[in-house]
Amino acid sequence: MAGLSFTVAIDGPAAAGKGTIARAVAAHFGFAHLDTGLLYRAVGAKGGDPVAVARGLTAADLERDDLRSLAAGQAASRVAVNPEVRAALIAFQRAFARQPGGAVLDGRDIGTVICPEADVKLYVTASPEVRAHRRWLEVGGDEAVVLAEVRERDARDMGRADAPLRAAADAVVIDTSEMSIDAAVAAAVKAVQARR
Ligand code: CDP
Repeated sequence: MAGLSFTVAIDGPAAAGKGTIARAVAAHFGFAHLDTGLLYRAVGAKGGDPVAVARGLTAADLERDDLRSLAAGQAASRVAVNPEVRAALIAFQRAFARQPGGAVLDGRDIGTVICPEADVKLYVTASPEVRAHRRWLEVGGDEAVVLAEVRERDARDMGRADAPLRAAADAVVIDTSEMSIDAAVAAAVKAVQARR
């Protein structure tokens, strides 16, 4: 028998808490974790022809320390509308998802496009105001600007033609607007446990 793979797909809009939940689920079950947003952030941050950059992405590109900035997030969502950029990143994500021992991937299109056969799909969301407030606590600055940035990125991610952000039909939806991190993590762990 081939090594047992078990894939958890976690999607949702910016700052909904999916990264925190993905890391906690991976740690709880001993699965590997891939933050797929980092791939798009790295492509956007590098500049130049995004398709060529996506095709030649290296591990070092993922280790830049400026990938978490608002600017890198905007650059990511701009290159992420390009179908050739997305296509160049598919094989790496699918190989990661199928590794023996289990994997958690978080992003926008994991349950819908990258891993439609995932064992568990979670859609983690929260109101734009709550998400902007959380992001503002991390990055500071003007909260109204952060809210505008969140709305702009939502519109671009949900409105694009290729792999738009949406919940898969079979996803468990976790709305974290009025949930503590611990409660959201507990809900996610429970959903994964139910399918193991
Ligand atoms: O951490 P945050 O939710 O703010 O962003 P992220 O997950 O790092 O993603 C940054 C941007 O990359 C998103 O706004 C999407 O446009 C894009 N992205 C995508 O298109 N598909 C993914 N699987 C992950 C990210």
